[in-house]
Amino acid sequence: MSSMDDFIIGLPKAELHIHIEGSLEPEQMFAFAARNEVAIPYASVEEVRAAYAFGNLQDFLDIYYAGAQVLQTRQDFHDLATAYFDRAAQDGVVHAEIMFDPQTHMERGIAFAVVIEGLLSAIAQAQGRHGMSSSLILCFLRHLSEADAFAALEAAGPWLDRISAIGLDSSEVGHPPEKFARVFAAAAGHGLRLVAHAGEEGPPDYVWQALDGLHVDRIDHGNRALEDDTLVSRLAAEGMTLTVCPLSNLKLCVIDAIGDHPIDRMLDLGLRVTVNSDDPAYFGGYVADNYRAVAEARKLSKAQIATLARNSFTGAFLPEEAIAAHLARIDAYMAGQTD
Ligand code: ADE
Ligand code: ZN
Repeated sequence: MSSMDDFIIGLPKAELHIHIEGSLEPEQMFAFAARNEVAIPYASVEEVRAAYAFGNLQDFLDIYYAGAQVLQTRQDFHDLATAYFDRAAQDGVVHAEIMFDPQTHMERGIAFAVVIEGLLSAIAQAQGRHGMSSSLILCFLRHLSEADAFAALEAAGPWLDRISAIGLDSSEVGHPPEKFARVFAAAAGHGLRLVAHAGEEGPPDYVWQALDGLHVDRIDHGNRALEDDTLVSRLAAEGMTLTVCPLSNLKLCVIDAIGDHPIDRMLDLGLRVTVNSDDPAYFGGYVADNYRAVAEARKLSKAQIATLARNSFTGAFLPEEAIAAHLARIDAYMAGQTD
């Protein structure tokens, strides 16, 4: 391991953009399929990995939703999240805000309770096992209707005190944020924080809509905001957190090569950017792999990498005292660096 690898792993960090269904590794897919007697259209782990060549977001989503079918029981959701937390702890993640897609499961007859109880028990275990704090972001699937999103919010009713935020994911183009303005307002009325995928494939206008129509606390991705200088100024002035996912951007052809990633441009523009894995089992890396990829490709300094980690706490849905304590840990870590 290079000294940069050691530096990245040792740096305390939060992960703010990880879809737990996107952490389903091919080996787990086979194990869950076998124990639940679900058929999968692949003969081997190698065949699954070979299928992970995507031309765009929709190519990926088709495979991701098919993979999620093997998740059936509370134990499956517990095991899935536990494997993620164990892996994230090895990468120096001390706080994780995990997204989940309940509609994917509810539409195939899996009760909301099964999904969330499995995730919540893994969250409690990760706190004890790794000292890792974590919370849940319930995402609405934007290719479904507003009424479907309201139904998911209603199903979540008994657990709203154990969900930190609402998100918006799935096929972006053709499903603008404003389609969900009313259900986001209802969620805010329940005291939930708000995030939305915007500007991954969709135009800058979708980022404006997420800000002014949904009143989000964070933007997931936000790459295409760079096409609009006024929007960039607004995001920078507000200190809006962007949860950027470099290996996802590469795998979904948002960028042509990792060397083209705009992470340092975003930092230079004063944007509060963070680095995240999105769907690590599908995109070839967990959070430290994402830091490493941009650190190498864009020749980031340790100070720039530390800023990315600081932003992950500043943008986290944590109490102020917890954020301050995490930032103090980064300061102490940086003070101990010799170069
Ligand atoms: N669901 C899981 N990953 C996603 C992504 N990167 N964009 C939109 N929806 C998603
Ligand atoms: Zn995502």
